[in-house]
Amino acid sequence: MKSVSYIEFILNGSAVHLDFEKEGIKPGTTVLHYLRSCGLKAPKEVCGEGDCGACSVVLGSAGEDGKMHYKTLNSCMLFLPFLQGKELITTEYLDRGQLHPVQESLIEHHAIQCGYCTSGFAMSLFSLYKEVPQIDRNALDLALSGNLCRCTGYHSIYKAGIALNDYTDKDVFAKEEGQTLEKLRLLDNRALRVEVDSQLYLKPRDLADALKLRKAYPEASIVAGGSDLTLLQNKQDVEFRQVLDLSALEELKYYRDTETDFSWGAMLSVEDVFQRIPFPEWKYLLARFASKQIRNIATFAGNIANASPIGDTIPLLFAFDAKLRIASVSGERVIRVQDFITGYRQTNLQDDELIVGIVLPKYDAHTHIRSYKISRRTHVDISTLSAAFRMRIVEGRIEEAVLAYGGMAAMVKRADKVEDFLLGKPFSKETMLEAIPLVKETFTPLSDARASAHYRNEVAANLLLQYWEEINDCL
Ligand SMILES: Cc1cc2nc3c(=O)[nH]c(=O)nc-3n(C[C@H](O)[C@H](O)[C@H](O)COP(=O)(O)OP(=O)(O)OC[C@H]3O[C@@H](n4cnc5c(N)ncnc54)[C@H](O)[C@@H]3O)c2cc1C
Ligand code: FES
Ligand code: FES
Repeated sequence: MKSVSYIEFILNGSAVHLDFEKEGIKPGTTVLHYLRSCGLKAPKEVCGEGDCGACSVVLGSAGEDGKMHYKTLNSCMLFLPFLQGKELITTEYLDRGQLHPVQESLIEHHAIQCGYCTSGFAMSLFSLYKEVPQIDRNALDLALSGNLCRCTGYHSIYKAGIALNDYTDKDVFAKEEGQTLEKLRLLDNRALRVEVDSQLYLKPRDLADALKLRKAYPEASIVAGGSDLTLLQNKQDVEFRQVLDLSALEELKYYRDTETDFSWGAMLSVEDVFQRIPFPEWKYLLARFASKQIRNIATFAGNIANASPIGDTIPLLFAFDAKLRIASVSGERVIRVQDFITGYRQTNLQDDELIVGIVLPKYDAHTHIRSYKISRRTHVDISTLSAAFRMRIVEGRIEEAVLAYGGMAAMVKRADKVEDFLLGKPFSKETMLEAIPLVKETFTPLSDARASAHYRNEVAANLLLQYWEEINDCL
């Protein structure tokens, strides 16, 4: 593998060649710290854990359609090598002698109060303005879900967002698009291998190299989106001695829709899956997964490999009986997500393996799948509990039942006894009422800051009724 010790990217219009070894900068430094050390102080460090959006920046990249595309990200959750080959935009670059429409609109609608959050809102509105032709309330909800205004200036901020529809002239970024694409094309995008300050950072360009490195460095921390790992660095002072960064593996960013299944690569972001997947139950769940900034970088593979009992994608993956493609230098194997997770944050991933893909089977019209996330807030909140149910109902009878619950045990767990009880029974409210005590017998959840065990048990059981109400309406 031909690798270099530097990255190249565009920062606010200018090409940057950042040689980690020469400049003595650890590659695991966050983009936020780097920017602030460069004197770019619009992005603020407030929570340092992806919750507030004050550090938001925009990453531009060349899309398959030959155009520039923009994503808002939390710079506090981003390792520097993620910038390689991209255009990094901070709020400072919006005003180019003339205010950008986003800035004009925020001023016009009195949507600027403090200096902490405004820059982040401007960045989220900027990518929305660039990517969404007609901005409505729903688009704003999704785009701003990761930006916190502590003085509750949302009404004005939303008005400023809607008013962006009135700016129909090309902005300066559209006028410069051709030049930007050319600048990006000239950047050196080679694989990265850097050792600074006892941190070895490896960023291969293709899967074959990634698998060799995985075998050679089994102790290395695998980074996909890094939304879980950067948190450990920021909040628990964890120092990553060896990092294997998979973010440049373009071959793992595919999405396929065949007659029998949907499948996607391990490096496709949660947001990209959210945009493409046609199932309403996935749309419902992913709209509530973290925030736009986190979804833009987080992956399903990271969520699954974490094996958290409250990993939001896992119950629905169980309900779909999703499978994982897992690769090593010796070949590939396929395993059900359900068999992959073996305990609290435990999986059966071997130390030379990587998750490379996710496969979701398609079901016939008799099969009804729903997912539920119970949390105190709609966005950027951890599940108190979650559930996903799949039933096949033919002529009013339950032919198949899968009930998967998150947050009710040390790992996501199926309610097997309840499933057995439901088989062959009529799909009726009475059946669901009879099943409720069995759900309560199945789990002994914990009481914690989010909810009591009693609350969790009651809600988990009652979700069966909710499912019945929803499905009964469409049978
Ligand atoms: C503000 C905030 C909000 C969040 N909200 C939610 C939420 O609503 N719901 C939820 O479920 N989670 C949430 N999370 C947690 C996190 O975003 C998810 O778990 C996410 O899916 C992790 O994906 P990642 O690609 O960022 O993982 P990373 O941080 O890159 O990696 C996570 C783990 O997976 C392993 N891994 C990653 N890719 C692979 C691979 N290809 N092969 C083998 N191992 C791999 C890594 O080694 C690591 O142990 C939130 C996090 C933050 C910071
Ligand atoms: S500082 Fe709050 S999200 Fe980055
Ligand atoms: S404007 Fe910054 S907290 Fe509301």
